[in-house]
Amino acid sequence: MKPIFADDAAIKRATKLLQQGRLVAFPTETVYGLGADASNPAAINRIFKAKGRPTDHPLIVHILNMESLNDWALNVPESAKKLAAHFWPGPLALVLNKKPDVPFEVTGGQNTIALRIPDHPVALELLRAFDGGIAAPSANRFCRISPTLASHVEEELGDSVDMILDGGACGVGVESTIVDLSGDTPRLLRPGHITQQQIEAVLQKKIIVVDNSKPSKQSNNSEVRVPGMMALHYAPETIAVLCPGELLTNIIRTLNIQNKKIGLLAYQFNPSENRRMHLLCMPEQSDDYAKTLYTSLRDLDSQQLDIILIEQPPQTEAWKAINDRLFKATINYSGQ
Ligand code: TXA
Ligand code: MG
Repeated sequence: MKPIFADDAAIKRATKLLQQGRLVAFPTETVYGLGADASNPAAINRIFKAKGRPTDHPLIVHILNMESLNDWALNVPESAKKLAAHFWPGPLALVLNKKPDVPFEVTGGQNTIALRIPDHPVALELLRAFDGGIAAPSANRFCRISPTLASHVEEELGDSVDMILDGGACGVGVESTIVDLSGDTPRLLRPGHITQQQIEAVLQKKIIVVDNSKPSKQSNNSEVRVPGMMALHYAPETIAVLCPGELLTNIIRTLNIQNKKIGLLAYQFNPSENRRMHLLCMPEQSDDYAKTLYTSLRDLDSQQLDIILIEQPPQTEAWKAINDRLFKATINYSGQ
């Protein structure tokens, strides 16, 4: 499916398709989403089929405004109202108790639902025209790199999507921060552009950070699903390894002796010998790095390399979301 520039006529057509239970990929400020009518179980099932994603993985429902929260969530807590007022529209998804009439297809069988108002003019225009919730996971095949350009969606999903709205490159570049407010204490399920500290500052209390760095075994219906808990998530097809900068010289030397075709996603490292290497130098600021991360990984993945080396960026709060995605894109689980 060729992407279509998201003008008024395209958004009108996209709205019709959503009403007919079809799939429309659209830009958000984080990554492109694969959208369907969140109140239509048949449409939701199409999402799982197109992505090749197990049906017990819950989806995020995108809404237009704060009032719509009550269409999907039951007894919205004060903490949710505070965070929503502060960060929406924006890259934050809130997990709340779902209303009984919300289809279980969209929540992967759980009693909670993830909701967010995206901060992108095309997404908001589509939500306004459609006048309902749009369920949208990232518009990539299951466990692969999220798309940040319309052309990435085309590469990922081909004709299994009915329309791709092109709204240019996504400004944030990594998926939303997810906070679970369905229990007594708020829990950070997925780090993103909005940080733990920012959330704690608004709530004026500490939140629990869920460690989702360990790969899950099999999906288990009795277990609440935590984002990105598969062995390799957000991953390129080429083997990718996350390396501390100080080890790179030796690793590259060894790979060169073995005649391996190397890709390097460099942060500050400057290889002395790079003739046979596909080198991408990443920005030094975390926001700029995040914006180009997935495009860069896709670029390296398309070069028919033997291995992609990724220089470990700083391990500070500002880099949390990036490190989380890099960790899941690489083989580094205790060296396995
Ligand atoms: O930035 C984003 O959030 C993008 C754009 C398109 O909005 N969407 C996105 O969706 O990243 P997806 O499906 O790729 O990731 C959503 C994650 C899933 O991994 C799922 O585990 C988690 O949200 N999630 C959804 N509903 C949940 C729930 N009720 N409880 C716990 N986790 C939930
Ligand atoms: Mg995803």
